[in-house]
Amino acid sequence: MYFVANWKMFGNLKSINTLDKVIKFSKSKEIKKGRLIYCPPYTLLTSFFKKFENCLIDIGAQNCHENDNYGPHTGFINSRMLKSIGANYVIIGHSENRKKGETDKLINLKIKNAIKAKLKVIFCIGETLTEKKKGKTRLVLAKQIRLGLDKIKKRSNIFIAYEPVWSIGTGHIPKPKELEQIVKFIKKKFKGKSPKILYGGSVSPQNISDLKKINSLDGFLIGGASQNPKKFIDIVKKTYN
Ligand code: 13P
Repeated sequence: MYFVANWKMFGNLKSINTLDKVIKFSKSKEIKKGRLIYCPPYTLLTSFFKKFENCLIDIGAQNCHENDNYGPHTGFINSRMLKSIGANYVIIGHSENRKKGETDKLINLKIKNAIKAKLKVIFCIGETLTEKKKGKTRLVLAKQIRLGLDKIKKRSNIFIAYEPVWSIGTGHIPKPKELEQIVKFIKKKFKGKSPKILYGGSVSPQNISDLKKINSLDGFLIGGASQNPKKFIDIVKKTYN
């Protein structure tokens, strides 16, 4: 199981000290088969990389520029640059960025170039509350998958993170049955081997016992709770107990 910590626009140099507990946990037997990945803001990637030098915790970025080459793009960072500082993952298509204008086409380009740079991609999809109420969830997800992965044949380095927009930061999660059916629906969109599927949206130590019942999930993308080492560790522990 994969446990991906998305720190969003939080954290500074001081927050690195909070990682000691997690590093210790990652070296203990309690981690079982859990894989931990931290996606801090760009400013902390190198510090996290150094901090995790002697353990198996991986790092990833929260977004990237769509160009595969260097160029005059003030304020941006591309996948090559991320790979060169030790990142192995990148989150692409997060709803917080879609909301700000990231289109499926742009997301597709980002994914293509991230794969070219040998990064693993955590490709986020999810419906809004309005879309859900209108019964359009499946339609929205199918479209995001179709356009986001257009002309991408090599999909072995792609993880799909199903993050219903209405669940992010709200404390609400889908009903287990509903979630199970959506995961099944996503898997069916792939001929042959399906990518690994993560769930994201208000994952917490309180609701992980329900979420872990969905056997077809390969892990979780965790926002708020991942900034608190105790909560993050608890989520992993409870997944296996
Ligand atoms: P929360 O866990 O804070 O709801 O955030 C989820 C998320 O957006 C992870 O990418």
